[in-house]
Amino acid sequence: MIEIKTPAEIESMRRASRVVAEVLAELGPLVKPGVSTKELDSFAERRVRDLGAVPAFLGYRGYPATLCVSINEEIVHGIPSPKRIVKEGDIVSLDMGAILEGFYGDAAITAAAGKIKGPAQRLMDVTKRSLELALSEVKAGARLGDVSHAVQKYAEAQGMAVVKEFTGHGIGRHLHEDPSIPNYGKAGTGPVLRAGMTLAIEPMLCLGRAEVVVKDDGWTAVSADGSLAAHYEHTVAVTEDGCDILSAAD
Ligand code: MF3
Ligand code: CO
Repeated sequence: MIEIKTPAEIESMRRASRVVAEVLAELGPLVKPGVSTKELDSFAERRVRDLGAVPAFLGYRGYPATLCVSINEEIVHGIPSPKRIVKEGDIVSLDMGAILEGFYGDAAITAAAGKIKGPAQRLMDVTKRSLELALSEVKAGARLGDVSHAVQKYAEAQGMAVVKEFTGHGIGRHLHEDPSIPNYGKAGTGPVLRAGMTLAIEPMLCLGRAEVVVKDDGWTAVSADGSLAAHYEHTVAVTEDGCDILSAAD
């Protein structure tokens, strides 16, 4: 069942999502050669708490941190570590959730450390654009498959591969609610979107093949062929005539 949120609930979700957006915006410039992923995580946790929210991932199914930091061939769920140092040319995905007023916000960006290579830049650009195209499909009366299809069609036309093992999701009083939102599918299929549904849409694309392997830590998902991956995510609300991006920077 896909829940419909009230306008007041959506405003709480906007405040939670804005905390995420603000902290991600602050983290972006800290992604530089020499920084450890643990330093990024510590900064994120402090800022989330300073802004009056609670880290959403910390303790979720035993996840040990505020941030997921996934570098290069890591797709999602990279665990921060003081031993993992960002280096020149890395692409670094930062995924974070926050809880405020009982509601969740969830968003992700991919940041470049120093000067990156052409294909890495293209992957980041295409992934970001695929999210924008997905959001442009969101409105009351559209079908969820329209959103999924928009990501797949654009990504594959650009020669990128769509990760299928992980999906976006409904979000609200829980981090993961119905529906599951794959980044591939057929237009005109799936549930009809209604105003007040709140969704976390999160394309994950690879430069090579998109097969996934989870590392021995039980979390870090990497591309099986070692190819680069990028990830962007927004929390949005469906409106009568479009999409209200709750995790947009203020
Ligand atoms: N954005 C990701 C998701 O919605 C992050 C979850 S990470 C976890 O699945 F640590 F909380 F599991
Ligand atoms: Co998410």
